[in-house]
Amino acid sequence: MATRSSRSPTGTALVTGATSGIGAEFARQLAHAGYDVVLVARNSARLEAMATELRDTARITVEVISADLTNATERELVESRLKSATNPITYLVNNAGYGLPQEFDTNSVDDEARMLELLATVPMRLSHAVLGGMLARGAGTVLTVASIAGEAPLGLYSAAKAWPLSFSRWANAHYRGRGVTFAALAPGFVRTEFHARLGIEREAMAPKWMWLEAEFVVRSALRSAARGRAVSIPSVRYKFLWALMKLAQPLILLFVARASRAAHEPAS
Ligand SMILES: NC(=O)c1ccc[n+]([C@@H]2O[C@H](COP(=O)([O-])OP(=O)(O)OC[C@H]3O[C@@H](n4cnc5c(N)ncnc54)[C@H](OP(=O)(O)O)[C@@H]3O)[C@@H](O)[C@H]2O)c1
Repeated sequence: MATRSSRSPTGTALVTGATSGIGAEFARQLAHAGYDVVLVARNSARLEAMATELRDTARITVEVISADLTNATERELVESRLKSATNPITYLVNNAGYGLPQEFDTNSVDDEARMLELLATVPMRLSHAVLGGMLARGAGTVLTVASIAGEAPLGLYSAAKAWPLSFSRWANAHYRGRGVTFAALAPGFVRTEFHARLGIEREAMAPKWMWLEAEFVVRSALRSAARGRAVSIPSVRYKFLWALMKLAQPLILLFVARASRAAHEPAS
């Protein structure tokens, strides 16, 4: 891991889950906007490949930290990098995440707890680690990847994704006057490795028109955060769905209850 000071006038961005999908795109766009970057994920070979790509194409300084963010000892490496006063992080992207393939009652409680930790506790800890320095300097951005699912009552993944939405709304109102922007990105379906890791075919998940490209999603999120907005929902179709979902929450719950009864009713 390199430790030299950032040469970039924009500073240094730390991106978790930077080896694939939305996180890789954040790393690319921030690097090409002039940020030096710190890439975090578990797979060292993929981290090194991403670092080489960014050094070659964006000519910025790249550090890598190989860490499983649900492992306290490994996460500590990231927290201590976020607290650095000599080479400060000016932009944090809390992005690392995954879903679980089974239902809440059939998954082990440890698997559910690990997912909840990665999607809610880890961004909270990393935001806390970076915030003191950002407030002292009077500048910084903390962007956390939530999901449009955070507004729908659909399992523990949705409940965990509700956390960054609620927290970012409050934190942006509270800290923006002191120079620190908090923003949550709430995308719909994005073409990444997320669904393959779940073992689900994209076509079985949602119709073609619902899929977005990571490049577009990230560009919208960075623009929205630069304008100081607490929540970014990329694309008009998802802004519309978001409004509809808020109104339709009782109907969604009715549908969930009916589908569950139909699946579990003993055959007569
Ligand atoms: N794709 C969608 O449709 C969609 C929609 C809404 C929200 N999101 C959210 O977007 C975020 C990014 O997902 P994606 O779609 O880009 O998925 P992805 O392509 O599977 O990327 C996930 C990234 O997270 C890293 N990661 C996973 N577990 C980790 C851990 N324990 N510690 C450190 N890094 C870890 C992975 O790298 P390693 O495996 O090397 O660790 C990878 O870089 C997630 O928070 C997801 O919930 C996705």
